Amino acid sequence: MIEWRIKKHPVLSIPNRKRIGFYWNNKKLHAREGEMISSALFANGIHVFGHHVKDNSAQGIFCANGQCAQCTVIANGIPVKSCMTKVEEKMVVEGVEGLPGLPKATDNFKFLRIPQVETDVLIIGGGPAGLSAALQLAEKGIKTLIVDDKDRLGGKLVLQTHKFFGSIDDCYAGTRGIEIAEILEDKIQSYRSVKVWLNSTAMYVFGDKKVGILSDGKNYKIVHPTVVLNAAGARERSLVFPGNTLPGVYGAGAFQTLVNRDLVRPAKILFVVGGGNVGLIAAYHALQAGIHVVGVVEALPQCSGYQVHADKIKRLGVPIYTRHTILSANGNEHVESITVGKVDDDFKTIAGTEKTYECDTVLIAVGLNPVDEFYKEAEQAGIRVFSAGDAREIAEASSAMFSGKIAGMEIARELDKEDKPIPKTWYQKADILKSPPGPIATPNYDSFPEGNITPVFHCTQEIPCNPCVSVCPKGVISIPGDSLLGKPQIAKNDCIGCNKCVFVCPGLAISLVDYRKDHDYPVVSLAHEVHNYEYKKGDPVLLTDYEGNPLQEAVVIDTVTNKTSKKTQIIRVRVPKEIAKRVAGFRIQRDEVTLPKNEIILAKIPDEAIVCRCERVTAGEIRKLIRKGIKDLNQIKAITRAGMGACGSKTCENLILQLFKEEGVPLGEVILSTIRPVFVEAPFGIFSNISH
Ligand code: FES
Repeated sequence: MIEWRIKKHPVLSIPNRKRIGFYWNNKKLHAREGEMISSALFANGIHVFGHHVKDNSAQGIFCANGQCAQCTVIANGIPVKSCMTKVEEKMVVEGVEGLPGLPKATDNFKFLRIPQVETDVLIIGGGPAGLSAALQLAEKGIKTLIVDDKDRLGGKLVLQTHKFFGSIDDCYAGTRGIEIAEILEDKIQSYRSVKVWLNSTAMYVFGDKKVGILSDGKNYKIVHPTVVLNAAGARERSLVFPGNTLPGVYGAGAFQTLVNRDLVRPAKILFVVGGGNVGLIAAYHALQAGIHVVGVVEALPQCSGYQVHADKIKRLGVPIYTRHTILSANGNEHVESITVGKVDDDFKTIAGTEKTYECDTVLIAVGLNPVDEFYKEAEQAGIRVFSAGDAREIAEASSAMFSGKIAGMEIARELDKEDKPIPKTWYQKADILKSPPGPIATPNYDSFPEGNITPVFHCTQEIPCNPCVSVCPKGVISIPGDSLLGKPQIAKNDCIGCNKCVFVCPGLAISLVDYRKDHDYPVVSLAHEVHNYEYKKGDPVLLTDYEGNPLQEAVVIDTVTNKTSKKTQIIRVRVPKEIAKRVAGFRIQRDEVTLPKNEIILAKIPDEAIVCRCERVTAGEIRKLIRKGIKDLNQIKAITRAGMGACGSKTCENLILQLFKEEGVPLGEVILSTIRPVFVEAPFGIFSNISH
């Protein structure tokens, strides 16, 4: 029997929430109070939520973030996005087979007054950027309203169980995202000038400079702000391949939501497509949740994410296939396997290199697009508008916090509540925090002293990160030129073996080699924070080098935890001095998990791949129109319905533009879809604030 709920996690605490009953297609099931319908269904092993009216294809979750509408179910008679709607006691939930029917008509209702609220600043999005901006505004007493469509503040921070990069002073480096969310939220709550509306979705910015907000899915309010800050984050990009809409193909962020926020295990064994930070971190989060990871494919010759993230999962036993791409996700009602293949310099698949791997889930992590529609509409409406974080430019959350801080100050200046100029160093720091990772080098282990005790750095790439320098009580570690971007080095040979650098390193890329008791067999300390693997004295481990190549078997001689990093465990092993400095981690995943199947499933022709998942429009249908000379997305929409579905073209517009590019049409010649109010689906009656 598969356990779909996560009951033990190395980082997250498991809350004891009330068990409630609900009905799914007339069958009584149980959920936890406060969870989303989709998570309640996943916790019961249900991944297919209905079938599409056009081709009877199975439908389920894709984004888990209210962006795609693929998860629609009927709850108490009303079609809702199951990933954004809380399950309730005795709720009657049904799958959508074909088109959902209209809710029963009733004349038992009245129109209520629509509340109107004025504020100096409206911040759309309570993630790292929005919260950092709000703190700046709060310090100056500026009346601020934060609206966020989730039931807690923090945005993507609440999904991040790993420690952050950057610097401790600027962006809480060495602290886990989920803990940073709590810190920021506590600070915000201490200011009376900041109001927070949770479970509240910004619907549209209207021409009269007012913003429509839907709270709890039923209460419509109008906000009249002087300034808008768009900190709405980003949405995940999709990818066109055969089987791309099968239940079991999720955005990597959706997966993190299910696993780290909702504590359900949506997969037993998965494959990741995309070697950027999001994909690499999602693979790590899967391992932490006790899910096998068969592999990661990345079409480029090298992962675009931080090398420390890549090395960390390789050490745990996850292979990364660069210059490879997904050819198809295979299965009927759900993913059963993935076929991948090697690509040449033009990203064309090399025939004969195809391999099929068994998995029940494919995570798509091929980049993010800013949620910038609020910015554009506010600008058009003539409201003073700013943007910050991913909504402005896609970068790490550490950078989003800094960009929010700058936006907060810019707004304070705009409102004449601050006359000091923004320090130039802030902009410089913001640039550093968003800088892409540098070239990859090989660790130079000869540079580490062998006499006494020494930290050894296995980070091989310049990234903005220096908490190891900050926490060392003896000043043993430095970064050349004191820049955040250099690689750490040994400044002096005074290490006392406190392990603080080993605990704090976000990449788990520092080991400590202690030669003091036995120079020929030093003790090596290694940090880990994976799944239920709490090691104890006597446990065998297969040690690896920094990028996961096996070195030798060893036995744990003891383990260490400390008060501040209690969710990280250090294991200590004794090894010959010849390999001591090269030991960087150990395997947790068996090789068998990552082997391909004998049978290779070859992809169906790409023309059959779905581009518009709401209306089931294929790449072939759209290509035909592009080849006829159509360059207007509105025309394509009128002919095929692509972009007309419930997600409002948030998922498919980029894919259609990709098809134009493939067909050699310059994007400057393409006419984009006309944006129509509202950005988010809502029951029609809310605009009159109908009460039944
Ligand atoms: S999965 Fe719910 S809206 Fe995308």
